Amino acid sequence: MLEATNLTKEFKVGSFGRGVFKAVNKASFKIDNKDIVSLIGESGSGKTTIGRMILKLTQISGGQIKYNGKDVSDIKNKNLKEYYRKVQGVFQDPFSTFNPIFKADRIFKMVKNEFYPALSNKEWEKKLDDSLKSVGLNPKEVLNKYPHQLSGGQLQRFLIARALLIDVELLIADEIISMLDASTRIDVLNLLAMLKEKGLSVLFITHDLSLGYYISNKAIILYRGVIVEMGPTDKVFFNPVHSYTQSLLDSVPRLDMKWDEIPKRKKTYTDIVSYIPGMSKRELKMTEIEENHFVAIE
Ligand SMILES: Nc1ncnc2c1ncn2[C@@H]1O[C@H](COP(=O)(O)OP(=O)(O)OP(=O)(O)O)[C@@H](O)[C@H]1O
Ligand SMILES: [Mg+2]
Repeated sequence: MLEATNLTKEFKVGSFGRGVFKAVNKASFKIDNKDIVSLIGESGSGKTTIGRMILKLTQISGGQIKYNGKDVSDIKNKNLKEYYRKVQGVFQDPFSTFNPIFKADRIFKMVKNEFYPALSNKEWEKKLDDSLKSVGLNPKEVLNKYPHQLSGGQLQRFLIARALLIDVELLIADEIISMLDASTRIDVLNLLAMLKEKGLSVLFITHDLSLGYYISNKAIILYRGVIVEMGPTDKVFFNPVHSYTQSLLDSVPRLDMKWDEIPKRKKTYTDIVSYIPGMSKRELKMTEIEENHFVAIE
């Protein structure tokens, strides 16, 4: 479905923009049908930048993204609409997506005008009702409200309902549940799992390992713009090979063990410092260490 090859993003930095900072460095990965892929990494590792490149909100500096075999960079003008019908983003702060002075149903009006101009009002209302109900919202309760009258969880669901209305195939979900309380989080996570059953694929961007584990069938670990490890979620979480993945997993508080009881791991590969892009002249190779489980090693 989506294939990124050597995806790179360079930002100009420093005075007169003479320096270059690689926010994403030769990232290659695939998202298949019905995949929920978690993209995990600490703050500043390049997660949002990857999401924005997929959504064509940020230009690619190098490499390629293909969607169903087509180079995404070539999608322009009137083909863009078709692309955004299939690929949609939902972001961290749902409030920022909504204009506070418009009632919530206005976004749906825009979807109708944009994507379903020929549909009668009655048919449209039915479609809208169905999509809101499918994300657990009561249309009567939410449609004529202003954003500040809705909760963060309701707004997230709104955005997911909007994505459903236009029959998206791939949802880029960037930290969408970080700001929700624990029980609403689980609801939204379960909603994503349900969407997956319907055939939707999700790139689930998070810095929270446990959320990534809960929801995804594949995991990508990003460190300073470089993919250091990726594969089926179980393999990455239970057999982490890269020292960065190991230290990430070791830093998750555990209920069953006190901190000083956690056995220290032996470092399997060179310390992560040697992987910092620009500091190492050594090339990293993605090596398949078990089926579909890849690790960046020298
Ligand atoms: N427009 C820009 N110009 C210059 N640098 C940028 C720009 N956008 C992002 N960056 C830098 O690129 C790096 C990656 O940013 P990005 O937003 O992708 O990180 P992230 O993994 O999403 O972090 P977080 O978890 O905090 O959301 C950061 O160091 C950031 O400062
Ligand atoms: Mg981000």
